[in-house]
Amino acid sequence: MEKIKAENLRKIFITKERRGIFKGEKRKVEALKGISFAINKGEIFGLLGPNGAGKTTTIKILSTLLLPDDGDAWVNGYHVVKEANKVREIIGVSLYSDRGFYWKLTGYENLMYFAYLYHLNPEYAKKRIKYLLDILELSKDADRLVEEYSTGMKSKLNFARALIHDPEIIFLDEPTIGLDPNSARKIREIIRDLKKEGKTILLTTHNMYEADILCDRIAIINKGKIIALGTPNELKSVVEKDRVIEIQIYGILNGLTDKIRKINGVKRVGLIQEEKSLKNRIKVIMESDDVVPEVLRILVSEKIKVESIKSVEPSLEDVFVYLTGERLEKEE
Ligand SMILES: Nc1ncnc2c1ncn2[C@@H]1O[C@H](COP(=O)(O)OP(=O)(O)OP(=O)(O)O)[C@@H](O)[C@H]1O
Ligand SMILES: [Mg+2]
Repeated sequence: MEKIKAENLRKIFITKERRGIFKGEKRKVEALKGISFAINKGEIFGLLGPNGAGKTTTIKILSTLLLPDDGDAWVNGYHVVKEANKVREIIGVSLYSDRGFYWKLTGYENLMYFAYLYHLNPEYAKKRIKYLLDILELSKDADRLVEEYSTGMKSKLNFARALIHDPEIIFLDEPTIGLDPNSARKIREIIRDLKKEGKTILLTTHNMYEADILCDRIAIINKGKIIALGTPNELKSVVEKDRVIEIQIYGILNGLTDKIRKINGVKRVGLIQEEKSLKNRIKVIMESDDVVPEVLRILVSEKIKVESIKSVEPSLEDVFVYLTGERLEKEE
């Protein structure tokens, strides 16, 4: 049964330039260019895409925080615009950017406050909060003021808040961003447990590993459009017959990827730049290994400092490179 349905959703933001030679001029950003998908009961559905793709905008529209400019969407059969109140009752939302906590209250008090807003019975609320704090490993910090919380602790509290009324349908915007590996693993475990309880979950991520291991189905979204949708394996089958090599290099030479792209038998080349280091990765998707010597010849003739070169299993990253010719994410 369909729990979430989006039909041709569009969103345009109009903003004013605040600085520079275009100051005061209006700028139109087409955040969503008509996206459609449907999510079944008990599914974990992922929106995977790079920064600015439109993931958060989609979640905001579905959770009634933002009005679409066009298109329709339903959550549990309720229309997100015409029956927004009904939708709000049955969903839990955790937005990455949300800072709506009371800094001068403790974590526990904040959750009690939100339980009160949901009209939860106080006895039930206490039990529920204790349970959530326990599974999120936040109990020991429950009585500290939120202003003392670290970023990760605030993310977990945000997650707890989304689950406080035990909603049937859950929207999670970047649920593990900024968390250390253990906390991220814990959150993923909880998400899987929620699925076992029959909850329907829509999450966004720009982490392809997370999408791969967690999601039943994934929509890859880029520049306001869904460019592929399917199970992780279906998506990876796009590059299944191809060979993928990954080359780690120091620095980058302009035009290098273009030169590699021109080699016969090379299908796609993606450059993945790492933010905090001089190292870069080049992904080459090719028909067969026969192409490798020619790739090496170019690296040598361009005097590129190669750290490593290896053949890798096709991943969702390669699907993205394949579909867009662009990188999916920056390395953290
Ligand atoms: N309130 C707003 N006003 C103007 N533009 C906006 C607003 N919110 C989002 N946008 C623009 O809409 C586009 C999509 O943004 P969105 O936040 O949905 O992306 P995202 O996929 O969630 O990205 P990220 O991975 O960085 O969170 C971007 O170009 C963004 O600048
Ligand atoms: Mg976002």
